[in-house]
Amino acid sequence: MESDGSKHFTLTMQTGRTEFLPGKMADTSGINGTYLGPTIRAARGDKVSFDVVNDLGEQSTLHWHGMKLPAVMDGGPHQMIDAGKTWSPHWTIDQPSATVWYHPHLHGKTAEHVYRGLAGMFIIDDEDSKKLPSNYGIDDIPLIVQDKLFTDDGKFLEDDEGIFGTLGDEILINGTYDPYLKVTASQVRFRLLNGSNARAYHFGFNDGKTFKLVANDAGLLQEPVTMDRIMLSPGERAEIVVEFEPGEEAILHSFNGHAGIDSGEFDLLKIIAAPELAESAPIDGQLSTVPEIEAPENARVRQFKLTMENKINDKYMDMYRIDEVVPAGATEIWEINNFGHSHNFHIHNAAFRVLSVNDKEPPEYERGRKDTVFIPNGSNVKIVVEFGNYADPHYPLMYHCHLLRHEDDGMMGQFLLV
Ligand code: C2O
Ligand code: CU
Ligand code: CU
Repeated sequence: MESDGSKHFTLTMQTGRTEFLPGKMADTSGINGTYLGPTIRAARGDKVSFDVVNDLGEQSTLHWHGMKLPAVMDGGPHQMIDAGKTWSPHWTIDQPSATVWYHPHLHGKTAEHVYRGLAGMFIIDDEDSKKLPSNYGIDDIPLIVQDKLFTDDGKFLEDDEGIFGTLGDEILINGTYDPYLKVTASQVRFRLLNGSNARAYHFGFNDGKTFKLVANDAGLLQEPVTMDRIMLSPGERAEIVVEFEPGEEAILHSFNGHAGIDSGEFDLLKIIAAPELAESAPIDGQLSTVPEIEAPENARVRQFKLTMENKINDKYMDMYRIDEVVPAGATEIWEINNFGHSHNFHIHNAAFRVLSVNDKEPPEYERGRKDTVFIPNGSNVKIVVEFGNYADPHYPLMYHCHLLRHEDDGMMGQFLLV
């Protein structure tokens, strides 16, 4: 499909009821539906515009996680949409292909709003990404992974105890309980999004089947890396390409890992390959024509300390305090030290590469461009961050832990791009 370069979307945030467990209804929220929202797809260079209609009956926001855009369009805690109102952001997509996503970001309410179902995927295409399987729903499949606690009558339960917030014992994939997928292509690209509030997943296949990691949060890798396990903490994404034999059955599984936050053992998705499969070109060689993010020689270094009390640099979030001022378009080194329990770290309007974890090479699955990274407890993680170009002296952007209970607690800071 050729794009005419400009795309408009209406997104209505609404409440409703959804059947997850057979015969039982949960009270949920969704966007243009009762649970989750539509996948938005646009190409680099497109002008996109939105009418975000808030029919929730309460204030919220809608944030474009992973997007480089003017701060006032970011949909963070400062772009509140009152009940009954419409917010109309617009920008030109100017970043490499990636799997980004959208979700509310109202300060103190993010966990609740996301848990009830307000989230969706946003796919950015470019010339590089089109060389991979790109036929949406056929060989290019979104997988939004979320854990839930259900009451006996099938309603969502939120856990107010515990240090990480709600950790569910049932998994929904794209809002479906106990899902299966029939595939008709020999190579399928899965876009994994950990859309859970707090749980991490160690993705793999039950039989040890390997896959190729082709992209991380913020774009394609330089070349594919074959592996059998990948860990994603909340907010992180990865694109993998999996090869199937005709008639094959495979189970995407989450293995128990030592993440510090619960990962748990779950069968996530049963995949059944058709008796005859459409062949596609093998995936090897160079994927991305975008160079790796490199630090300039005298890159500014900033330090961030994460603590047990869910503070960053000994502070809780203050909507009226600016914590850092960063030159627009800068590339800096951010060093994150975690003295608390497990946290992760996300930066708005930026893409970064993980340089080291405890001064060692990061795990292979953390290669390439990211915007969210797991910070194991007791560890030091260094990242080189490429910031967006849009200067705005008034509206701050956020960096925060993406375990949503922690974020709501105030584990978040604000920076200006100037
Ligand atoms: Cu996914 Cu600041 O958020
Ligand atoms: Cu974000
Ligand atoms: Cu945290």
